[in-house]
Amino acid sequence: MPCVNCHGYDGRGRKEAGVEVPNIRWSTLTRPYGKPYTAALVKRAVTMGVKANGETLAPAMPRYQMSLSDMNDLISYLRELGNDADPGLTADRIRIGVDVPQSQRNALLAYAKTIDVYGRKLELTFTPNANAFAIVGTHPQSFDEVPTIAATLTDEGNRYFFTALPTLADEKAALLAIAGEGTVTTDCAQKNADILLLLAPCKEPSARIILATSSIQLVSPKAQRAFAAVPPPAHVAALAPLRVLVEALTRAGRDISREKLVDTLEGIYRLDLGDAPLITFGPSRRNGARGAYIAEVDLANRTTKPARWVESPQ
Ligand code: HEC
Repeated sequence: MPCVNCHGYDGRGRKEAGVEVPNIRWSTLTRPYGKPYTAALVKRAVTMGVKANGETLAPAMPRYQMSLSDMNDLISYLRELGNDADPGLTADRIRIGVDVPQSQRNALLAYAKTIDVYGRKLELTFTPNANAFAIVGTHPQSFDEVPTIAATLTDEGNRYFFTALPTLADEKAALLAIAGEGTVTTDCAQKNADILLLLAPCKEPSARIILATSSIQLVSPKAQRAFAAVPPPAHVAALAPLRVLVEALTRAGRDISREKLVDTLEGIYRLDLGDAPLITFGPSRRNGARGAYIAEVDLANRTTKPARWVESPQ
C-alpha cells in the first residue's frame, strides 16, 4: 500500500478513526530533540517497523520489502517532501498575519521595515489566514498548523500556539504567591475568607488581602492590603509577539519551515526584549512569561505603588 494512503500527499499524517498517523516530512523526522531519524533509521522503520528510538511501530504501519534503489528513491522523495516551501514563504518574502488594534499597526509596519532575515523581508497582512507563514498579535485566531504567537491569549494543547506575555493564569499564580497563606475565595459575596481573588468586578470587595487581575478595576476595597496585576502596555503587547517571531526566524536560519520555526521557538530561553518579562518556551511549555507585574495598592492614599515582577511558583 502506498505511503500517501495513510501519511497523506504532503506527508503530514493525520488522525483518523482513533489512529494517529505521524507526520513523516523530513523536517519533522529529523527534528533535533528526542532521537532524530537519519536515512538509515528511516529505512529500518519502513522495513522492520522500528522507531528511531528503538521502540516498535504499531502494526498499523506496514512493513515493506524494497530493493535498495527503490529504498533510496523513497528516501530522496521524503527529503523533498520536507523541503517544500510552506505557505507564505518565498525566496525574498515571509508573509506574517497580524492581529493588533488599528492604533498599533503603524508601529508594527515601521518595525517590520527594518527587518531582513537572510535576504527575506517581512510582509505584514492585517487579515491573518492560513496562507500566512506565521501569525502574531494580541488576540490572534489560530489556523491549522500555522505557528502563532499571541501576547496574552492561550490555546491549550495547540502545539503551534505560543504566548509571549503573562496570561490570566500567570497573573493569578503570581498574585496568590504574593498573598501568602490563608483561605482563598473568588466569590465577592463570601466575607470570611482571608484572601479575595477578584476575577470579575465586585461592588464592595472585602477581605484581609484583596487581589485583582489586570482585567479588573479595583474600587475602594476594605482590606489590610490589596494588590493588582498590571497589564503590559498596549504597545508592548502589540509588538512583543512579532519581535519574538523575528528572533526565532533569525535563529532558525535561511532554510525555514513552519516545523523548524516551532522547534526554534521551543528553544527560546530567557529571551530579553528589554521592555517585557524574560521569555522562555520549551517542548511542553507554550506560555513564555511565568509570572506577572504586580503593584501594591496604597489603601490610605488610593494610589498604586510601582509595579514589580513576581515570578509564579511552578
Ligand atoms: C496503512 C497505513 C500506513 C501506510 C500505508 C504507511 N504508514 Fe507509515 N505509519 C503508519 C502509522 C499508523 C504509523 C505510526 C505507528 C506508531 O506510532 O507506532 C506510521 C509510522 C511511520 C514512521 C515512523 C514515524 C515516527 O514518527 O516515528 C515512518 C518513518 C513511516 N511511517 C514511513 C512510512 C513510509 C515511507 C511509508 C510508505 C513506504 C508508510 N509509512 C506507509 C501508517 C502507515
